[in-house]
Amino acid sequence: MKVLILLGLVFLPMLAHGKVYERCELARVLKRNGLHGFRSNSVADWVCLAKWESDYNTKATNYNPGDQSTDYGIFQINSHYWCNDGKTPDAKNVCGISCRDLLTDNISKAITCAKRVVRDPSGIRAWVAWRNHCEGRDVSSYIRGCSL
Ligand SMILES: *[C@@H]1O[C@H](CO)[C@@H](O)[C@H](O)[C@H]1NC(C)=O
Repeated sequence: MKVLILLGLVFLPMLAHGKVYERCELARVLKRNGLHGFRSNSVADWVCLAKWESDYNTKATNYNPGDQSTDYGIFQINSHYWCNDGKTPDAKNVCGISCRDLLTDNISKAITCAKRVVRDPSGIRAWVAWRNHCEGRDVSSYIRGCSL
C-alpha cells in the first residue's frame, strides 16, 4: 500500500505534465510540419513562441477569467475563437477541433490550428508572449545547435 502511494506520488504528476518537448526536438517537428517560412515566420519564431507560451509543455492550460476562455497546449491556443472545450461562452471553434486535441503528445493538430491562427490579419502577433518576448529580437538562439 505504501509503495503504491509512493509510486502514485512519483508517476501521477508525470501524467499530468504530459510531454515536454526538448527545444531542438520541437524545432525539428515544427520544420517537418511546414512552419518554417510559413507566413514569413521562421521556425525560430515558433520555438520562441512555444517557449514563452507553454515552456514546451503540451499539457499547459491557462484560464482567462475575463472572457472565461482557456488557452490550451504548446501554443496556448484559445477556446474563445479556435477550439471547443464545451464550457467557453460564445465560443467560435474556428479550427473545428476539441481543445483536448491540443494537449496530446502529437502536436500535429496544434500545428494545423496555429497555421489557421496566423492566417488572420494580426498573424503571429496574435500571441501576446510572442510580442513580449520574440518580436524584434534575435531569435536564432532558439534553434542554435539544432540539426534542422
Ligand atoms: C501525428 O498525428 C498525425 C495525424 O493526426 C499523423 O499523421 C502523424 O503520423 C502523427 N505523428 C506521429 C509522430 O505519431
